[in-house]
Amino acid sequence: MRKPIIAGNWKMFKTRDEALQFIYAVSDKMPEKEKVESVIFAPFVVLRCLVKRQGENLRIGAQNMHFEEQGAFTGEVAPNMLTSIGVTYVLIGHSERRAMFNETDESCNKKLHQAFNHDLKPILCVGESLEQRENNLTEKVIYNQLVEDLKSLTKEQVKELVIAYEPIWAIGTGKTATAEIADETCGFIRKTVAKLYDEETAEAIRIQYGGSVKVSNIDELMAQPNIDGALIGGASLKADDFITLVKAALK
Ligand code: 13P
Repeated sequence: MRKPIIAGNWKMFKTRDEALQFIYAVSDKMPEKEKVESVIFAPFVVLRCLVKRQGENLRIGAQNMHFEEQGAFTGEVAPNMLTSIGVTYVLIGHSERRAMFNETDESCNKKLHQAFNHDLKPILCVGESLEQRENNLTEKVIYNQLVEDLKSLTKEQVKELVIAYEPIWAIGTGKTATAEIADETCGFIRKTVAKLYDEETAEAIRIQYGGSVKVSNIDELMAQPNIDGALIGGASLKADDFITLVKAALK
């Protein structure tokens, strides 16, 4: 049995005061960590204040990092800087970073290797655009992303990895993929992992769906056999909604 994992991606939202209000509201309301894993991906500047107040079953992650350990990379943050303040997760390859900040499959691959080198748990995002889906390219696009992004990762590392399937056309649009489409594509990701590694690895890896997940649709998504969790943007900003979304994984 794969343990469900529910994660909130705050993107570029929340000042320090707003982040503090959120963490005080949720940190002691998360279900037992044996039953569900919960994570908040927050902007760099509030990571430390969230880590200090994260409680028993809420982990804190960064939305990005550099793949080098130090150097002349103005504006960037290194993996060891994250671990030094108690950050345990990192999001890699979000479609917004791929589209707007030159994130490539090659840099995602380097970041995944570095995340594992530093004991950070990565969530890798993959997904197709509307144009690609309409041209029947979804499987090809995702297959290529997986081949490139997972290059040279060991089977043991891939078992620990979480993959978030986020169709770009469903992000922030209110247009959730139907549960069937989401499950079918998560199933394709699992089959691809079986092909690139083996059945055991494919059975172990956790796959989330992301894209307009909210309180009203999470139950149907979580009921699908290939969906092990959700990566949630907008709806993760409200403390009450986030608590409900994490609890949905218990059903
Ligand atoms: P929304 O839930 O706001 O559609 O965002 C999804 C997302 O991009 C999470 O990483």
